[in-house]
Amino acid sequence: MPGEFLKIGDKRIEIKDLPTIPSVHNRILKIIEDINYSVEEVSGLIEKDHVLSSKVLKLVNSPSYGLNNKVASVRRGVILLGANLIRGIILSTSLFRGAEDEMPGMWDHSYCTSAVAGLLARRYNLITIEELMTGALLHDIGKVLLHRYLKEEMVYLNDIVTSKKMNMLEAEKAILGKGHDEIGWWLAEVWNFPPIIKEIIRFHHRPSEAGDNIKAVSIVHLSDIVSKAIGITYGSDPYIVPFDPECLKAMNSLENDITDIVSDVMDVVESDPALKIYISGVSNG
Ligand SMILES: [Fe+2]
Ligand SMILES: [Fe+2]
Repeated sequence: MPGEFLKIGDKRIEIKDLPTIPSVHNRILKIIEDINYSVEEVSGLIEKDHVLSSKVLKLVNSPSYGLNNKVASVRRGVILLGANLIRGIILSTSLFRGAEDEMPGMWDHSYCTSAVAGLLARRYNLITIEELMTGALLHDIGKVLLHRYLKEEMVYLNDIVTSKKMNMLEAEKAILGKGHDEIGWWLAEVWNFPPIIKEIIRFHHRPSEAGDNIKAVSIVHLSDIVSKAIGITYGSDPYIVPFDPECLKAMNSLENDITDIVSDVMDVVESDPALKIYISGVSNG
């Protein structure tokens, strides 16, 4: 059981202060708890929310998803993505609400990491693709929480990152005593995410410490770094947390594969209108 509050520096984040999930989103979450949920009912509710609808369609039409034909209906998107990814989209949308404008690049970074993770999961024959893509979508939720509750500290932290050319995780640990990985993990416990998603959030910067889901965590670790390396990142967090070479072992991969992986990822990014802008020099931050 997670604690009733999380202490970060001299601040406390209480469970009762966590962002509330809009009632329609909550309704969808309740419905998809039942494995025999009605696709009609879920897609009907999603269609009423244009932000959710566009995220569902964007994800299912991501070139990394590997579909040959464009999906135009939310209903088909719901069927193809499955309950876990729908859950991830809803929770990240609720949490990111209001923060997207203030954290330019955050949603795109999450989306790109998820798309790349999906691509790699297929490449390395991982069967839990849906959960892995959801974990990738939510891997940095700790950052959103920090941004929401520790605004003043984050201004200071951003200054440190710029002046000391330090990566954000290092700065968080030095100043707050906790990184966004641990902070996100607490939220994942509070929201009772499946174990694989909890491990992805907690260990995405140190995959060798992950347990049973080390392969999935390693894939997200690599996807996160690749997304950042090609410039798809949250504007105030430009420095990359070091790559953990152990992750290649967990993926039964070789260092030489990285070149192939980056080239595959670039193909995906170039054919994805939502991501292409980053590599054509028009970045949003
Ligand atoms: Fe991270
Ligand atoms: Fe990240």
